[in-house]
Amino acid sequence: MFNEIDFDKLQLDMPAPENDTQRQYYYIAKCREGLKELELGETPIRTFCLTTFGCQMNEKQSEVVAGTLEAMGLVREESENADVILFNTCTVRENANLKVYGRLGYLQSIKKKRPNMKIIMFGCMMQEEHVVQKIKKDYPFVDLVFGTHNIFKFAELFYEMLHAAGQIVDIWEGSDQIIEELPTERNFSFKSGVNIMFGCNNFCSYCIVPYVRGRERSREPEAIVKEIENLVQDGVTEVMLLGQNVNSYGKNLENPVSFAKLLEMVEQVEGIKRIRFMTSHPKDLSDELIEYMATSKKVCHHLHLPMQSGSSRLLKIMNRRYDKEKYLGLVEKIRKAIPDISLTTDIIVGFPGETEEDFLETMDVVDKAGFDTAFTFIYSKRSGTPAAKMEEQVPEDVVKDRFQRLLKLVQDRGRERSSRFEGSVQEVLVETESKDKGVFTGRTAYNLLVHFEGTDDMLGKYLKVRLDTCKGFYYLGSIVEE
Ligand code: SAH
Ligand code: SF4
Ligand code: F3S
Repeated sequence: MFNEIDFDKLQLDMPAPENDTQRQYYYIAKCREGLKELELGETPIRTFCLTTFGCQMNEKQSEVVAGTLEAMGLVREESENADVILFNTCTVRENANLKVYGRLGYLQSIKKKRPNMKIIMFGCMMQEEHVVQKIKKDYPFVDLVFGTHNIFKFAELFYEMLHAAGQIVDIWEGSDQIIEELPTERNFSFKSGVNIMFGCNNFCSYCIVPYVRGRERSREPEAIVKEIENLVQDGVTEVMLLGQNVNSYGKNLENPVSFAKLLEMVEQVEGIKRIRFMTSHPKDLSDELIEYMATSKKVCHHLHLPMQSGSSRLLKIMNRRYDKEKYLGLVEKIRKAIPDISLTTDIIVGFPGETEEDFLETMDVVDKAGFDTAFTFIYSKRSGTPAAKMEEQVPEDVVKDRFQRLLKLVQDRGRERSSRFEGSVQEVLVETESKDKGVFTGRTAYNLLVHFEGTDDMLGKYLKVRLDTCKGFYYLGSIVEE
């Protein structure tokens, strides 16, 4: 495993190894050596600042990039005074892109004063041709640009960047490779995301993800279990299995394995206390999974089940492959099997051609389904997707009005729903200390947050907390003595 490797002892006087993992270790060691020499000079590279946009997949990949940089000997710093500035980008909606361009504009002025500073852009946005063209033309001071398919090659790219005069751009069209065992620096010591698959084959008509993440590929279950066993050794007790559509996990493996079966394998890992997963596509949610969740002792009773719209007409155009009745039927089936389930969802408002009737269908599902929370998004036109070519884009004022109405209903229903736990005692995993010293935040199995008074030694522990007052999306609570 990488944390058993002494990078100072790797042999560097021979060509780089062919094996992908070994090759990256080799470049980490090369950079380590090179950076030490630089440290003696006038322009040392000692610190890095990494900002991640987007989903948990990006978070997870950022942990690998951070782990690689730390293995090289760099130290993380949460400020853009750092010597290396990195952005892991997201392009699922336009505003994610705008934020990145905003940051770059600002960094240009800093780089004028500190020319030795390195700027690195990677992730989903970089998989779009027009973005790369813009960076080449308008932001030539960016040192390194790479995409989603070659993140595993980061150490090698970083090495090239240290030795190059100009901007390096390396974008791959796709990849069927899954490289295991790269260094990782986790955001939390006690919980971790675990990729079980990459990419997406669903091509929902509004969505850019299949274009920037490529085709769906599942990891071998044994590799996933091994990673989780290693995480347990390292203090992790909660895992979040990650994929764009976990319900289709394992279908393309040489020996196909269902997602429910994978959960069963993960459940057997000793030391794991909680298992979560994201995201479930309603079209592939199997009875096998529902049954497994109902009986499992470790899989949390929380299901994120994005509905996107309540209108069957729009769902068809969105290419979601279910309709309103099927969605509500699924919710009913889940609630029957797992009565205490906490359900959350994603909803898009203002998809091209959305009429008031379509919108009211969405409101109707929110009214009936009993979501604990819903993430609501204003439709964002993504070039290259089928929806971007649809003519009837909904006027902005209409979208804004619908968005506000939806948000209010989501909040009202969410508050009613979440308050069902008020007064109960729940086991929470203590995750963070808030800015107010002495106030900690824990998460229930149902994914609800509770703030309570505590002490440092509680971080990462499971405690019994009474949920005294529901504040909508979170609770105020107090620790219950054993
Ligand atoms: N794979 C997941 C979703 C990943 S993207 C699934 O299918 O459930 C996360 C959310 O972003 C989506 O559920 C959707 O609600 C939203 N989203 C995706 N593309 C969007 C777009 N073009 N405009 C607005 N929201 C979008
Ligand atoms: Fe996008 Fe649909 Fe794939 Fe989710 S399932 S990532 S919404 S294309
Ligand atoms: Fe964004 Fe890429 Fe995730 S586009 S939502 S970071 S897969």
